Amino acid sequence: MAFPILSAQEAAELIKHDDNVGLSGFTASGSPKVVTSALAEKAIKEHEAGRPFKVNIFTGASTNNWADGALARANAINRRTPYQNTPDLRLRINSHDTHYFDLHLSELAQKFRYGTYGDLDVAIIEVAEVMDNGEVVLGTGVGNVPTYATLAKKVILELNSKLPKGMYGMHDIYLPLDPPHRREIPIYKPSDRIGSPTVKIDPAKIAGVVHSDSYDGIKGFTELDDVTLQIGANVCGFLVGEMRAGRLPKSFLPIQSGVGNVANAVLFGLGDAKEIPQFEMYTEVIQDAVIELMKMGKCKFGSTCSLTLSDKMEAELLSNLDFFRDKVVIRPAELSNSPEVIRRLGVIAMNTALEADIFGNINSTHVVGTRMMNGIGGSGDFTRNGYISIFSCPSITKGGLISNIVPMASHIDHTEHSVDVIITDQGVADLRGLDPVQRAERIIDNCAHPSYRQLLHEYLRLGKSGQTPHTLEASLAFHTAFKATGDMHNVDWSRYGF
Ligand code: COA
Repeated sequence: MAFPILSAQEAAELIKHDDNVGLSGFTASGSPKVVTSALAEKAIKEHEAGRPFKVNIFTGASTNNWADGALARANAINRRTPYQNTPDLRLRINSHDTHYFDLHLSELAQKFRYGTYGDLDVAIIEVAEVMDNGEVVLGTGVGNVPTYATLAKKVILELNSKLPKGMYGMHDIYLPLDPPHRREIPIYKPSDRIGSPTVKIDPAKIAGVVHSDSYDGIKGFTELDDVTLQIGANVCGFLVGEMRAGRLPKSFLPIQSGVGNVANAVLFGLGDAKEIPQFEMYTEVIQDAVIELMKMGKCKFGSTCSLTLSDKMEAELLSNLDFFRDKVVIRPAELSNSPEVIRRLGVIAMNTALEADIFGNINSTHVVGTRMMNGIGGSGDFTRNGYISIFSCPSITKGGLISNIVPMASHIDHTEHSVDVIITDQGVADLRGLDPVQRAERIIDNCAHPSYRQLLHEYLRLGKSGQTPHTLEASLAFHTAFKATGDMHNVDWSRYGF
């Protein structure tokens, strides 16, 4: 090995207070596992000695308990972007210990190259293999590695022995030129490969290699229940209807599927839908359900930024790479989430909402308008550019105390202009071609839970003027009722003079 072998602690010593640090991976997949934990320990010691120690963490998306989790518990993260989902970091963000800015995932790499966030001091990159000339084979997630490896002043590699040498050839590494020189990204179908199987790092920048030995640490999904199964069935029913009506080609179009339990359930639904032909995916995460779909032949090919698999599924995939090699390509976030490519391929965008309002605006990120959940992730990249953009969520949450359909969303990530269809366990609201009042009637009748329909219709009738007849003083009445009584049903219109 041409590079020094370091302990995780020695590597952590190379990172200084206030450094900008770029991490490999996308979701927990491919994220560092040992250097970040050692960095958290170093931060705790520095704090105990009365010295400030915080770093700015830039990633591909969310990471894992060894990175975001450990660093957040040590209160060692100053700035953080573009997406996260660990409970400890969520707490730090919502208490303002960490300054988190929520960014479309496709944008971070180029913004870094444009100089928006300053220099990148260190990159910590998980690899399956490192060659003496500085070329590396990545693991289960790529994220923004090509940019971080190019810009970082110093690179620390984590060589994970769980990743087999056979990972070579699974990746498609490509860096677009920056304006005014950028050309089209030449991906014309999900399986097109346009780049290199490896990332080439200047060997002079590689500070050392640290050994690790662990899967990505992702838990399996919550068991499918009646609600998530019904949402999945409704999404499939809608897509079949689109095919029958000739609005989707019979050969189908590439699918993107978001993150979380609902998204996983939707994918399981696709497996059961007989009328839906074999399909390809152009997506940012491949979850467990897709691997099952590949094994049954339903999903022919997946272009992704990460293999976000439970440890059990990851172990199965890594020991059967020959089966998956011609079915999967793992690319940088800049490609997997490229608005240009998504629009060209005609991707069917399927994402999950926390809440939708009756006019079709979507809140994906903020619980009751204020508390950050995870972030917008890639949902905006796909929603704004998809062939058709679908949002799904349960009609109610917390045993019915919360309606996921509300008069006005308490935070808006995706506006009515980008949202074509809303789907809950109750049914489907196809919003295309409808004006705001027509949209509201359809969402209330088709998607809201029956116990909230009357309240929502009452709200709609309160509005007396304008194309979008909001009654501003009452528009957050569901949320204020929830805050005051713990149940959105307890809306009292008389409080607003009605
Ligand atoms: N108000 C308050 N809480 C709500 C809520 C609402 N309207 N809707 C859901 N919740 C709560 C649930 O009760 C659950 O709470 P718990 O953790 O205490 O059980 C939690 O939010 C997650 O809900 P769940 O139904 O399990 O959601 P999920 O796992 O399907 O994830 C999102 C849903 C929206 C959080 C997730 O998809 C996300 O982060 N999306 C944004 C990023 C994105 O779309 N990326 C994909 C792009 S490719």
